[in-house]
Amino acid sequence: MNRTRRDVIVGATSLGLGLTLAPRLALSAPEQPFSLGVASGEPWPDNVVLWTRLVRDGQAPDGGMGAQPVEVTWEVARDEHMKDVVRSGVTLAMADVAHSVHVEVGGLEPARWYWYRFQALGVQSPIGRTRTAPAPGASISSVSFAAACCQYWMYGNWAAYRRIVEEKIDFILHLGDYIYESPSSSAAAVKQVVREVPFGVPKTLSDYRRVHAHYKTDPAIQAAHGALPWIMTWDDHEVENDYTAGSTEFRLPRFELLQQRAAAYQAYWEHMPLRLAQRPLGPNAIMYRRFAYGDLVDLVMLDERQYRSSLPCPPAPPARDRSRRVAVEDCADILDPKRSMLGMDQERWLAKTLAEPARARWSVIGQQMVFAPHYTKSKDDKLVVITDGWDGYAAAHQRVLDMIAARPNRDTLVIGGDIHAFIAADVPSKRADVSSPAIATHVVVGPLSSRLGDHERLASSMPINPHVKFADARRHGYTRCTIERGRSLFEFRALDDVKDPNSGIATLAGFETEWGKAALKQV
Ligand SMILES: [Fe+2]
Repeated sequence: MNRTRRDVIVGATSLGLGLTLAPRLALSAPEQPFSLGVASGEPWPDNVVLWTRLVRDGQAPDGGMGAQPVEVTWEVARDEHMKDVVRSGVTLAMADVAHSVHVEVGGLEPARWYWYRFQALGVQSPIGRTRTAPAPGASISSVSFAAACCQYWMYGNWAAYRRIVEEKIDFILHLGDYIYESPSSSAAAVKQVVREVPFGVPKTLSDYRRVHAHYKTDPAIQAAHGALPWIMTWDDHEVENDYTAGSTEFRLPRFELLQQRAAAYQAYWEHMPLRLAQRPLGPNAIMYRRFAYGDLVDLVMLDERQYRSSLPCPPAPPARDRSRRVAVEDCADILDPKRSMLGMDQERWLAKTLAEPARARWSVIGQQMVFAPHYTKSKDDKLVVITDGWDGYAAAHQRVLDMIAARPNRDTLVIGGDIHAFIAADVPSKRADVSSPAIATHVVVGPLSSRLGDHERLASSMPINPHVKFADARRHGYTRCTIERGRSLFEFRALDDVKDPNSGIATLAGFETEWGKAALKQV
């Protein structure tokens, strides 16, 4: 079928948001190099990143694009019809970065919507929409965002992203597990498969590119990337389950792990709207960084995978490191102050950042894990923790709690993910004493589509975790966060049915915290 560029434009469909979805059905693959959509991210007051990747066949080693560079032009306009173009330019999509394009567009006005598009090989991309952050120090009354994580392709559809696009929000905060590296796991899991993937377990760069390219074919995630800027960090499944700086649950030799990490990090950067500053060099990439929304929100993004010490007290070989629960009193490693979650450089950076005079009303920490301590009881009445989270790094955790406690105001909100449950908790100043005074507010975002966490265990452990106000691992969705000057509101948005690509959504529970109080109240 031969289609012209005019067909491409005519074939585009509008979402009613000034956003134009990829004309996926109107084109045959060889003619549509924008088959993964467009994206924007890293919102600064005067500058955002625009992203696309030219792909004709996402499962081919070269993406179906060959080895030559391709010229790509880009335009940014102040209107959804691209009439009032304010910035434009040309770049090359290079084969060594999988023909991805990361344009850092400066000279923009703060706190306003922009629209953008690319053109390559005679084809225009769909039109995306983005928004800059407010001017530094500008007094603003409210910032809203949707926080999401854990989107296993196989175990659900992504109606959540359709519902996120309908929210009135400024950006999307993604806290990791954007991809899942393993096609499936146990026999029980296979029964829950909703949709298949066309790839196996990735090891090499071209393997990880295939995974990312497949995840980006979903029309709902393309719509979400095209409608809002994203601020992102990664968790373990972007590389491998429960990996740390030096180990994996499969106990890969370190050299192999680092090679795999380099491949995974490279493919992640190629597929996300990230800056050149986040581009990996081998197995290293700087993902911890800071954003500001006027004088209201100072947002710190952390990387809790790349630098962390190995998990404490793994089972004896040849068992895999799957048993991630251990009694605190049986594992001296947990309390070892030499062990680190953030790595010493990032930890020092966080300490310096949190010790500075506040430049905004609220300090928001976006990170991967459950941050409030969480205990369960063993059959012989010992306190048990999950070793992969902050609870497995107790000394490092207490150091971060002390940084937060030293701030003059109770203005810290910590957002996490990872355990596939919605949780709202006050954060006690002493992790060993959960009834110590609260110093921060914590919410855990539920899974967007991954298999649910252990609800029974969460529910039965509520009495020994009085600082935890809510815990529910029975639903999928995201969290809508609204930060105002006097209070912050967190609404757990739960899908009716994760299997349904058009599922409706409703608020499962909402919690607010008053500025200066660090005390959650259900609303
Ligand atoms: Fe996850």
